[in-house]
Amino acid sequence: MSATQIERRGPVAVVRLVNPPVNGLGSAVRSGLEAAFNQLLPDDSVAGIVITGDGRMFSAGADIREFGRTPPPGVPNLPELIDWLEESSKPVVAAIHGVAAGGGLELALGCHYRIVAPKTRLGLPEVTLGILPGAGGTQRLPRVAGVEAALELIVSGRLVSEREALKLGIVDQVAEGDVVAAAVAKAAELAATGTPPRRSSERDEGLAAARADPGLFDRFRRSMAKRARGMNAPYACVRCIEAAVRLPFAEGRHFEHQEFRKLVGAVEAQAMRHAFFAEREVAKIPDLPDSTPTRPIAAAGVIGCGTMGGGIAMVFANAGIPVTVVESDAGALDAGLEKIRANYQATVDKGRLAQDAMDERMALIAGATGFDAVADADIVVEAVFEEMPVKKQVFGILDRTCRPGAILATNTSTLDVDEIAAATGRPESVIGTHFFSPANVMRLLEVVRGAKSSPETVATAMALSKTLGKIGVLVGVCDGFVGNRMLHQYLREAAFLVEEGALPQDVDRVIYDFGFPMGPFAMSDLAGNDIGWRIRKAKMAERPAGTGSGDERYSGTISDRLCERGRFGQKTGAGWYRYEDGRTPLPDPEVESLIVETSKALGIGRRPVSDREILERCLYPLVNEGARILDEGIALRSSDIDMVWIHGYGFPRYRGGPMFWADTVGLDAIAAAMRGFQAVHGDWMAPAPLLEKLVAEGKGFEDF
Ligand code: 3HC
Ligand code: NAI
Repeated sequence: MSATQIERRGPVAVVRLVNPPVNGLGSAVRSGLEAAFNQLLPDDSVAGIVITGDGRMFSAGADIREFGRTPPPGVPNLPELIDWLEESSKPVVAAIHGVAAGGGLELALGCHYRIVAPKTRLGLPEVTLGILPGAGGTQRLPRVAGVEAALELIVSGRLVSEREALKLGIVDQVAEGDVVAAAVAKAAELAATGTPPRRSSERDEGLAAARADPGLFDRFRRSMAKRARGMNAPYACVRCIEAAVRLPFAEGRHFEHQEFRKLVGAVEAQAMRHAFFAEREVAKIPDLPDSTPTRPIAAAGVIGCGTMGGGIAMVFANAGIPVTVVESDAGALDAGLEKIRANYQATVDKGRLAQDAMDERMALIAGATGFDAVADADIVVEAVFEEMPVKKQVFGILDRTCRPGAILATNTSTLDVDEIAAATGRPESVIGTHFFSPANVMRLLEVVRGAKSSPETVATAMALSKTLGKIGVLVGVCDGFVGNRMLHQYLREAAFLVEEGALPQDVDRVIYDFGFPMGPFAMSDLAGNDIGWRIRKAKMAERPAGTGSGDERYSGTISDRLCERGRFGQKTGAGWYRYEDGRTPLPDPEVESLIVETSKALGIGRRPVSDREILERCLYPLVNEGARILDEGIALRSSDIDMVWIHGYGFPRYRGGPMFWADTVGLDAIAAAMRGFQAVHGDWMAPAPLLEKLVAEGKGFEDF
């Protein structure tokens, strides 16, 4: 089938883009559009042209898979094609439904008139792929919608509703009925009245305000500094919009093209494309064909309404799924429900949620103190204390109470899912759903497949993660699963670096500058240093301290001393840092002297630690552990590990996740550094066998 189809409706020709599933503007579509216009423009019986998309949407833009490939000879590039279509002396009307994103919206902006169906989303999300709208979008959108709106939309990459698009002037009309019929009528009317084509490139009204306000761009750059940290694309977007104001259209378009070319091949764009495809790949499970049945989830239960249970209940309510939380007594239940209410209220107070939406969500959450209340639930997520006997007891009760076929999920972060499943007579229905804190905010969900979890249980949990708006990553059972197992390596080395000579603020600065939202010590203060302290105390009681492995040496000495002084972190106003306003970490001389004393007591001579060492000591062991996880089959793909770190731990998306980043560094360099660390520090730093193997074969994680 051809990638474009022409259909006549009286004097108007409708050109339909046909490239499922998203009508990406790949070379076949571009050639088809060119051929269609070459046929229709000289045809005197054609008075006007409508462009529309077949299937679910108008168009999701350029075909991202074609980036970095040379198009076949003779195929026009998208910006030139759009410029040429816009030149048409016959009226060209876009009939938009579903989505018009990136090049799709740029194509529509090259049309003379835009009519849109209800429930359509429009925008220029290129920046989320590390590039900029390179088919005239940075030049046409400000002319049509004004510079301020264009800056906000292009730099955020946000898609807007058809209503907002109408208000901003991006589209001209929202069709009540059939959008193609409305566009055909408009094209016929424009032709009959002899209205000259209204070309976006020739419009000027949107630029006037910015011309009168020379400080606008610098102000905008200052306002975006935090969210654009470390990236090039958002700044290139601003430069192009600035060029739209400063230069005639053709020169501005040329400028945009140059900037686009600089970005598209760079690591930032490669990393963000990797993340885009990884987010979709993660849902595909090789041994679970699409035909695997899934169970409908119409009602949920959550056991335990503490930090995690409360958040998980909100996740269900946010997705419109009624949920019942069960607590051990009325007092704990009231406290848990009150916390949920306060959480929603804070969002309402910030203007990010409407009061009636909050009321609807609260109405979906019921509370109970007996397990019978979840007897009919389709899934029950357990989030009680992290103690095996408690978990086993809860699963025993769930097994007796819940209806056959219900999924029994555990939110455990460290315990063995198989052992928990064994407490039931239906281990095939048991699975881990490891949410990240705060559960209603963090997008990551590790779906932990037990040895006996049935395909149906796994497929249902994976489908549910999408319904809940989460990135579900399927992982296997092991200590810490994927995320926390790798995190352990990173935190251990961060602690060692401080014992050896660095200060917490040095480590945190290097990690922040790398692109994480915060470094390991600020993170520990936020999470509470006492959690690790209590775990270590419990472990020490079980096992005498020894020497040899890194984990044994990792006694968390300094962290323990901080906790002994009541420095649990932000919640006590002091931890690795002191907090005057409750949240801004300030270096503390008291901590520095404690660190120096501790190094001395441990017999470690403090030395200067370079920024490079900090970065490599924190991140290479993390990557190394990722290699072990891959080798053991705990994660299915290296890109799944990248998803865990981008969506669960704030690894900078523009670096693609730890495994993608490792490939860009070079696995040989990482293996060599690990060997060096091993010689100095101990065998726990030995390169993983898979890392060595890939180096020997000259491959990267991408090839695994
Ligand atoms: N190019 C190539 N493939 C694309 C694509 C694109 N622009 N957009 C989506 N796809 C693929 C997806 O990878 C997925 O493939 P799979 O089934 O093999 O996994 C399939 O199409 C369906 O996509 P989704 O699962 O994402 O479908 P949804 O219905 O959930 O979402 C969407 C639809 C909102 C359009 C979403 O796909 C999306 O955001 N797409 C990307 C939009 C975008 O960033 N456009 C800008 C492209 S760059 C550009 O236009 C450059 C220009 O300025 C020069
Ligand atoms: P929490 O202590 O805040 O909440 C646990 C709740 O369970 C308490 O409100 C308690 O009253 C209730 N509870 C205990 N036994 C119960 C029973 N038999 N029946 C009903 N309710 C009972 O603990 P938190 O932090 O919410 O952790 C819960 C689980 O989530 C643990 O397994 C933990 O490892 C895991 N987890 C915690 C994360 C975190 O950051 N806090 C992150 C990811 C997982």
